[in-house]
Amino acid sequence: MNHAAPRYLEAKRSVDDRALSSRVRERLLAERPEEPRILEAGCGTGTMVPRLHAWGVEAGSYRGVDRSAAVLERARKRRAELDAEPIDGGFRVDDLDARFERGDALSAFDGEQADLIVAASFLDLVPIREAFDAFEDALQPGGLVYAPLTFDGGTIFQPDHPADRAIEAAYHDDIDGRPGRDARAGRHVLDHLRECGGRLLSVASSDWIVRPRSGDYPAAERTFLAMILGFVADAVGDQPEADDWLQTRRRQLENGALSYVAHQYDVLYRTPEP
Ligand SMILES: C[S@@+](CC[C@H](N)C(=O)[O-])C[C@H]1O[C@@H](n2cnc3c(N)ncnc32)[C@H](O)[C@@H]1O
Repeated sequence: MNHAAPRYLEAKRSVDDRALSSRVRERLLAERPEEPRILEAGCGTGTMVPRLHAWGVEAGSYRGVDRSAAVLERARKRRAELDAEPIDGGFRVDDLDARFERGDALSAFDGEQADLIVAASFLDLVPIREAFDAFEDALQPGGLVYAPLTFDGGTIFQPDHPADRAIEAAYHDDIDGRPGRDARAGRHVLDHLRECGGRLLSVASSDWIVRPRSGDYPAAERTFLAMILGFVADAVGDQPEADDWLQTRRRQLENGALSYVAHQYDVLYRTPEP
């Protein structure tokens, strides 16, 4: 199960763009300082930089950390898409400096005094408490955590198949069995933040919904679905119903008849102020 394959992250971009909550985004933009110092944990191929820029974040600094060298190489190439100037480790677009570096996002931000930490499609991959402790240490008091697209234990494929419930349960159990991972991370983030003393500023669902239109899928979403089916296959391969379920789903995908929903939350949190 490789969530850091550049091909997967590029294919999910249009799905993310559709899913992100505009309500949480508007609150983020209203709360952020004019020239924020931004850190991103698990930045992947850097899709958040053009997104933030398009949302009006045109000044400040951004430092994205990921442990995969391959995704970072792709992230730095985003310079061309933004028509940005090269700088050491990244690029400058308008007055926003964006740099990408390799590291463990749970320790790489030590000693920072950031205004905003972004963690997109990330908190279901790492221990939640450890991540928030690291984020709080890396933020100014009263800093912001924007954690969009946090998976929350709903995986739906349509049309109905008799093995859907068994496959979904086995898939989520497999996720829960992997170190640090949590198939119901979204709700557990909300539980954790209730104990943290800061303010939950905004939360909304940001479900991925991928569906065919006239038998085809937009952008690279057919590839995205094929890769999601690959993740499910890795997880449930030894289930008795798996072969028939996977064959059916792959045929439906090829015929442009498969739909998919993953339940997720976008969360905006302000850490305690003095
Ligand atoms: C599902 S991807 C999301 C990438 C990007 N945020 C996005 O939404 O397109 C998760 C990313 O987190 C990275 N990752 C996972 N654990 C990490 C850690 N402890 N430190 C740094 N990166 C990590 C993976 O390499 C991967 O690129």
